[in-house]
Amino acid sequence: MRIYDVIDDKRNKKALSKDQIDFWIKGVTDGSVADYQSAALLMAIAINGMTDEETYYLTTAMAESGDALDLSAYGDRTVDKHSSGGVGDSTSFIVIPVMAALGRICAKMSGRGLGHTGGTLDKLEAIEGVTTSLSEEKFYAQLNSAGLVIAGQTRDVCPADKILYALRDVTATVESIPLIAASIMSKKLAAGAKNIVLDVKCGKGAFMHDLKSAEKLAQLMVETGKRAGRSVSALITDMDQPLSDYIGNSLEVEGAVEVLKGKTDCPLYKVAEALCVRLLNYEGAEKDVLNAVRSGAALDKFREMLIAQGAKEDVLEKPLCRANCKIEIYSDKGGYVQSVDAMKAARTVLALGGGRNRKEDSILPHVGLKFNVRRGDRIEEDGLVATMYFDKYEDVAYAKDVLDAVKISDKKVSAKNPVLKIIK
Ligand code: URA
Repeated sequence: MRIYDVIDDKRNKKALSKDQIDFWIKGVTDGSVADYQSAALLMAIAINGMTDEETYYLTTAMAESGDALDLSAYGDRTVDKHSSGGVGDSTSFIVIPVMAALGRICAKMSGRGLGHTGGTLDKLEAIEGVTTSLSEEKFYAQLNSAGLVIAGQTRDVCPADKILYALRDVTATVESIPLIAASIMSKKLAAGAKNIVLDVKCGKGAFMHDLKSAEKLAQLMVETGKRAGRSVSALITDMDQPLSDYIGNSLEVEGAVEVLKGKTDCPLYKVAEALCVRLLNYEGAEKDVLNAVRSGAALDKFREMLIAQGAKEDVLEKPLCRANCKIEIYSDKGGYVQSVDAMKAARTVLALGGGRNRKEDSILPHVGLKFNVRRGDRIEEDGLVATMYFDKYEDVAYAKDVLDAVKISDKKVSAKNPVLKIIK
């Protein structure tokens, strides 16, 4: 077989066979297929698409290109979640402890933030003492004793995806639904869980800007996961406005802890609850999720995980955000909040130093925003819009951008349900 012919077939809109896709991915992993050949093939796929069958072959080939977690000893109790990346999204810190409190096994391998979306590892490491770099031995030991781990990759998982993602990033081929589906699902398959829930974000602050493409991506990922023998479902959730009022690394953990301490009347809990319900998949699961929060069992699990990963015993008894400065930002007019722009809010946090533009950048863990209003709220003139936390005094100038992110007018608008669709 020659890679030239594989590229030629896709350029001529033919469906690739399993053998052709395996040949390509093996060549990507061992270096026998050159980057320029993969780049050409990626572009042909981005333009001509893939059938569901081709997407499945690509997903499994990438999942098998490196190491995988072996969770077979835990049977059907293993769960995992994935978010396609949003703003103020700290659902992992609620879903994983709730599921562990309900006896599920949660081995979550997460990533770092890049661009406007935050990364779970950065958020956890914003907590004093916490590490997310665990040896394989420590990873499994914690999983056995506590039932939950959130950490970085312990081994070389999906090396083919790493190479292809870097190529996609510089060849305008990231936004291809089969390529995104295969990239996400290959990592989920290699992470080993039997039950998987996907949170596909849709709106201004997300990869997918409209419901139709979010639905297409979600459907394809669910079908691909099912073909691979996993139980998979997806939510499509709103990302026009930030999911929680807290944006920034330590602040987002604080927002999740507030929920685990009983604040369940907020969109962050609503989405976390819906994700847990999909993973539990039985009648009346909502009640068990709420009980796990109300009883404090989920908070105890989260504390147990943080302490196992290096935090002090009283970690959740003190504020987690330790920024040098804070300023309260007030509205210059009264009315109804039409929207809180997720992208503008995220870019402000990025400018404050809370995110990175390049992989090697370091971040300021405690800077960020806490909004006091959401879409649909009434606000008076001089009402509190948000509090901005920052480290460098000159950054006070960004307060203006926070005000710009919140649109206020006389028109009454209703709050939006954050769960837009469920795909089973
Ligand atoms: N996240 C991934 O892991 N892969 C993609 O292609 C897009 C988002």
